[in-house]
Amino acid sequence: MTQVRLRRLRSTPAIRSMFAENEITPRQLVQPYFVVTGKGIKRETRPGSGLWQLSPDMLREEILPLQRGGVGGVMLFGVPDHKRDDGDGLEEQLEPLRQAITETKSAAPTLPLFADVCLCAYTQHGHCGLVKGEIIVNDESVKVLSEMAVHLASWGVDFVCPSDMMDGRVKAIRQALDETGHQQTSILSYAIKMASAFYGPFREAAHSAPGFGDRKSYQMNAANRREARRELLLDLEEGADALLIKPALTNLDLIRDAREACDAPLFAYHVSGEYLMIKAAADAGLLDFQRAVDESLLSIRRAGADVIVTYAARPLTLR
Ligand code: PBG
Repeated sequence: MTQVRLRRLRSTPAIRSMFAENEITPRQLVQPYFVVTGKGIKRETRPGSGLWQLSPDMLREEILPLQRGGVGGVMLFGVPDHKRDDGDGLEEQLEPLRQAITETKSAAPTLPLFADVCLCAYTQHGHCGLVKGEIIVNDESVKVLSEMAVHLASWGVDFVCPSDMMDGRVKAIRQALDETGHQQTSILSYAIKMASAFYGPFREAAHSAPGFGDRKSYQMNAANRREARRELLLDLEEGADALLIKPALTNLDLIRDAREACDAPLFAYHVSGEYLMIKAAADAGLLDFQRAVDESLLSIRRAGADVIVTYAARPLTLR
C-alpha cells in the first residue's frame, strides 16, 4: 500500500494557490459606513475601530479609492442628530442619508450601493420598530419601514436592506417599491438575524442601543436552527432578492444550511463585535490581525456566503 500523501498538494505557494477552493477578493466584500450630519467629518468611533462615521461631503474621497481597488459595494447607515418618537419627521431625519446617497452615486455611479432600513437609530427608544407601551408593534412599524425604503430607493440606492426583523416587511416593502416605480430596486433582507451580543460596537457608532429592554422579541434566538430556515424561505417567498445572515462566525452552520436550502445570493454580515474581537486581540499582541481576518472571512465563504459585509472590506481593498 502506498501512502496517501495530501501534503504533496500543499508543497509550494503556487500549488496551494492553484488548489485553493475559496478565496477572498474585494468584489465580494461590502464596506459599512455610518453617515452623520455636518461637514468635514471623517472619524473612527475609537482609534482603529474600523467603524467609520462620515459626513456626506466626505464620502466621495473615501469611496473612490475603494472603487478603484475593486470593492463589491458600500452600505450606508444613517445616524440622525435628533431622535424622534415614532415615525414622524422621518424624511427630515433621513436628510444626511439623502445627501450621502446622492454624493456616493455621483462619485461612483456604478458602485453597488446598499442602505439600511431600520428605525433603531431614528427613535428615542432605540428599538427597530415603533413602540406602544413596552410592546414593539409590528404592522405599524412595517408601514414606516416601507416609507423609508421608498425614500432610499427614490434617492438612488441599488439595495434597500431591512434589518428590523418585523414580520411581513419584505412583502410590504416590495409592494411599496413597485407601486412607486422602483421595480429595479433590490431588497437584501436580513433573514436570519440573531439577538446577539456582538452588535455592541455598532450601537456605539449608530447611537442605536435600545433605551429599555432588549431586541429578543423580534431578533432570533441563537438556539434555533429550524426557525432560521423558516425565516429564510419566508423572506424569499415575500420577494427578497438576496438574503443576509448575521452574525457570521457564530452561524456558519446556518449559512451552510441556507446555501443548501435555496439558490438565492447569500450575504453574511461579519459584525462589529466579531471584527473588533480580532482587533482587540491583535492590539494585545495575541494574534496577527491580517491572518485572523483572512481566515475568518475564508471560513464564511467556505460555509456558503457569496458576499460578506465587513469592516475589513476597507483595509483589504486598500492593502
Ligand atoms: C440595526 C442593525 C444592527 C446591526 C446592523 N443593523 C444592530 C442591532 O440590531 O442592534 C449590527 C451590525 C454590526 O454589529 O456590525 N438593526
